Amino acid sequence: EAELLHTFKGIPFTTRSSPELLKSLDTFDAREDDVLLVSYPKSGTHWLAGVITKLYDTQVTVTSPIELGDISRLEELNKLSSKRIIPTHLDYNMLPPNFKNKKCKMIYISRNPKDTAVSMFHYYRDNPNLPTVDSWTAFFDLFLKGNVVCGSWFDHFLSWEEHEDEKNILFLFYEDMKKDLPKVVKEISLFLNLNVSDDDIQDICKKSSFSEMKNDTEKENSDPSHTVCALTSNRKLIFRKGAVGDWKNYFTPKQNIRFQEIFNEKMKLSKMANSFTY
Ligand code: PPS
Repeated sequence: EAELLHTFKGIPFTTRSSPELLKSLDTFDAREDDVLLVSYPKSGTHWLAGVITKLYDTQVTVTSPIELGDISRLEELNKLSSKRIIPTHLDYNMLPPNFKNKKCKMIYISRNPKDTAVSMFHYYRDNPNLPTVDSWTAFFDLFLKGNVVCGSWFDHFLSWEEHEDEKNILFLFYEDMKKDLPKVVKEISLFLNLNVSDDDIQDICKKSSFSEMKNDTEKENSDPSHTVCALTSNRKLIFRKGAVGDWKNYFTPKQNIRFQEIFNEKMKLSKMANSFTY
């Protein structure tokens, strides 16, 4: 159980992101036309990966995304011949330098950390690849300390926010996708220079709703053993509730105050702190 996670450069990872693999990323061979999809876990990675794959599918052949940081699929990722969409949970400092040097397009999606914490709590409970947690109270402390897989939400977000003004990086928010998906999909298509019709955008949005994606997985229209994330290969573990504000069902008033204090302190220099007031 204790061996499910190991620590690399101060950040906890699962064994599928082995120390050898993480070390080898320094020389990872990025390609100029790779598109990186970056997220802290439980921020909407699969949702966004679905949208981006569908956008590309209207014009070129893309392979289904393979996470950077998954030892079991590294060779496959290196050998892909078509355009690559590469999800990753790495923070900016650990990203292979080649992606930075080649100015690859990167899309960072983030989500209100309170909802992210609740989503991750359930994931810890459901996913046998992650350690067990006794209670929400116990998990709340681990999350705030950054003692969870992929480390501190704050460190992750801030490491990427520092590069917010770089033209090859687009920042997106889960809550914006919930509010107006067509608007965000349009923004993504412009960023990726994809000329997609409004009809296609409507169609993509319809197929990307929480219920459609969950149903597809349950009816096994999509390969249930295919996720875009090394933390699990079981797609059924990904689609839980898909809501904004579920944290209100878990946080006690006291926990909320404590969370807010730490949030305010850690995010005091962030220009985007106001994006998380859900
Ligand atoms: S992972 O395992 O880290 O890659 O998980 P990730 O895909 O980033 O996040 C999983 C959460 O995203 C929700 N989700 C969606 N919400 C809205 N619409 C759609 N289509 C959608 N697809 C996935 C999923 O339900 C997880 O959040 P919670 O709050 O646990 O439901």
